[in-house]
Amino acid sequence: MNEHVQTATSEPLFNPLSPEFIRNPYPHYAKMRATDPVHLTPLGVYVASRHAEASLVIRDKRFGKEHVERTIRRYGPKIMEEPAFRSLGLMMLQQDPPDHTRLRGLVVKAFTARRIEDMRPRIQQIVDETLDRIIPQGRMDLIEDFAFRLPVTVICDMLGIPEEHREAFYTRARVGGRILDPVPLSPEEIKQANEGTLISEMYFQQLFELRRKQPGDDLTTQLVQAEEDGHKLSNEELTANIILLFGAGHETTVNLIGNGLLALHRNPDQLALLKARPELITNAIEEFLRYDSSVQLTGRVALEDIDDLGGRKIPKGETVLCLLGSANHDPAVYPDHPERLDITRPNVKPLSFGGGIHFCLGAQLARIEAEIALATLLRRIPDLRLDDAVNPEWRPTFVLRGLKHLPASW
Ligand code: HEM
Repeated sequence: MNEHVQTATSEPLFNPLSPEFIRNPYPHYAKMRATDPVHLTPLGVYVASRHAEASLVIRDKRFGKEHVERTIRRYGPKIMEEPAFRSLGLMMLQQDPPDHTRLRGLVVKAFTARRIEDMRPRIQQIVDETLDRIIPQGRMDLIEDFAFRLPVTVICDMLGIPEEHREAFYTRARVGGRILDPVPLSPEEIKQANEGTLISEMYFQQLFELRRKQPGDDLTTQLVQAEEDGHKLSNEELTANIILLFGAGHETTVNLIGNGLLALHRNPDQLALLKARPELITNAIEEFLRYDSSVQLTGRVALEDIDDLGGRKIPKGETVLCLLGSANHDPAVYPDHPERLDITRPNVKPLSFGGGIHFCLGAQLARIEAEIALATLLRRIPDLRLDDAVNPEWRPTFVLRGLKHLPASW
């Protein structure tokens, strides 16, 4: 039997917003997997850190999102009046069937493997144009100047956001993301999240007007037409799901590129290997996803009493947080030094894109963007050096794991 009890004086086993945890969560995960793999936190939620339980919970029909109920339990009934929480609750990401099935069905065609594969030349063009501009400068912030621009441009293309509106998105501060963390927001953070939501809602309403008048070959036009059809989706659902696509389309991919670059520069042998054998890039991307996932956690609620989850009973209505980043380092699945970066590792199947009915819609897009971005960067700036690979500045969020800045020169 595992030791579940914690003394009042000991460090909490799961303290996801402490700077130390954010800097390097992996030793904490190893301890959780070894000592208390389905850990009950003082906030009353369960945290699954092994691959077996995390992978089961995200796929098993006995678990669902029950987002509104879960949020009200955490914050009280008035919370759903806050614009940020109302919007989050209408996103497909937080819905259960049948609403989830209906909303996902409206956009899934834009993400087929074929459609994404066809985007390769455009992705290559964006990366090349960005590097053409930057290379003469001799230095850049890999996050702001490089990793961020690509996914933002791609999702702007997909959503039909006109060129002349885009500069605002490139320069907007990345402050969101805290709402996804398992630590409740403070009133000040709720206010900030609301402001961000209201600004996005105002912008997208204008875009909907534009696409009603001037339809294009883009996702916004498609969804606006579905809304006009009557009962396929409401205006509020339309807005929330466009905000989701916009956010999910870049907040995560920027970090796949950033975390991957940091990992390579901290492991010069792997960097040299990838430069010498560029054909390893596809496997390298899977390994970057596994090694330091840009999404660390997702949660589910038990829809019935669960008798045994890693030795625990989970009562109906309780929340289980699945630590994707920890599952990716579980020696039961990756017996050969899971804590090491190895771009030749066989059978890498990271949980970073989730699983089951919510499996990431943009997984293939993210992989191709990262592949082209990293391969092109290594080819065009082979002598790039990071200013500080030891102590880079992390964003203060846990679920979305990524760097604030990553200065480099050549
Ligand atoms: C490295 C990049 C990415 C990572 C690690 C990632 C991760 C994830 C994860 C873990 C989920 C499932 C969450 C859950 O089960 O609760 C998810 C869902 C989703 N992702 Fe991604 N994502 C990435 C990129 C993208 C991109 C580029 C897009 C779109 C352009 C996107 C759109 C979505 C959407 C719409 C969902 C909700 C799907 C649903 O609920 O059915 N993601 N993503």
